[in-house]
Amino acid sequence: MIRVKNLVKTYPKRGSKERLSAVDDVSLELKSEEIFALLGPNGAGKTTTIKSICGLIVPDSGEIEIKGISVLKNRTKALAHISVVLEGNRNLYWRMTPMENIAYFCGIRGKSIKKSEAVEILEKLGLSEKKNELVHKLSRGMQQKAAIAVCLAADTEILLLDEPTLGLDVNSAVEFRTLLKDLQRQGKTILLSTHDMNLVEAVADRVAIMSNGKIVVCEEKRKLLDLFKARGYRIKLLSNGTTGEKLTQLGLSGWKKDGNIIEIHLNLSSAKELYKIIEDFRLNQIEIESIEKELVNFEKIFISYTNSGSP
Ligand SMILES: Nc1ncnc2c1ncn2[C@@H]1O[C@H](COP(=O)(O)OP(=O)(O)OP(=O)(O)O)[C@@H](O)[C@H]1O
Ligand SMILES: [Mg+2]
Repeated sequence: MIRVKNLVKTYPKRGSKERLSAVDDVSLELKSEEIFALLGPNGAGKTTTIKSICGLIVPDSGEIEIKGISVLKNRTKALAHISVVLEGNRNLYWRMTPMENIAYFCGIRGKSIKKSEAVEILEKLGLSEKKNELVHKLSRGMQQKAAIAVCLAADTEILLLDEPTLGLDVNSAVEFRTLLKDLQRQGKTILLSTHDMNLVEAVADRVAIMSNGKIVVCEEKRKLLDLFKARGYRIKLLSNGTTGEKLTQLGLSGWKKDGNIIEIHLNLSSAKELYKIIEDFRLNQIEIESIEKELVNFEKIFISYTNSGSP
């Protein structure tokens, strides 16, 4: 549905002849009906990637195709398949109501929309009470919902959502996850960028983590979670006779004592290492109280990739 190949976008650096690589050789492909999440710290290049895909930024080099149509060579035809919510609150006309915005943005796409359809979309987003209020009088979260409503009203096959849950309250953010899953079931393909790890855990099929303009990992979410699940262990030892020095000698650090229990967190690069550690405990007569796999959350995965560039 979307193919980005070797995308490069640089900007002049202030007070220097060098250029800053906002996006540095990024390639990615979105399959039909998948939810693909772009993750990355501030300034990683997510918005630049999304703006390039929707034709708002002309890249220095690289190719972008929407359903096989080049955005650079055949812009109008390619962009007919996508609608977008950009980050920030510049997606709407502030002097118009949500209903008027929907009618206007559908109109410039040459799409007519019935009033009842527009109301239904606003209802789905919990915004029907404010449908005739001027956008500039709405709260930040309501404006975000109105922007999402305009995007949905276009009824395109592909949705690009840059930070869609920014400004939404907890309930709205949870409802938004359900909405995304519903849209996927209706056949939509969704590319979203976010800092909201709960959203990624709840909805994404695949995840690309960006750092400094590059994709450092692109993987199915399930596989990423499995990979990390296999690594983290929490081991509890009985402390009778077991000293801190002994554990340090065995190469184990970061332990914590609580009563007669010593707790250690291990992050292993392979599950095999665990056998060696258990063998060391046996040889040193250290009693194991319990071994548990640690739960992973996306935050951990994210930090691990963005701090070092590799897990
Ligand atoms: N118009 C511009 N002129 C100069 N530099 C820019 C411009 N737009 C973006 N950049 C720079 O490009 C880099 C990538 O920015 P981008 O907005 O794509 O990051 P992001 O991943 O969306 O970050 P965030 O999570 O904060 O939204 C940043 O270093 C940013 O300062
Ligand atoms: Mg951004």
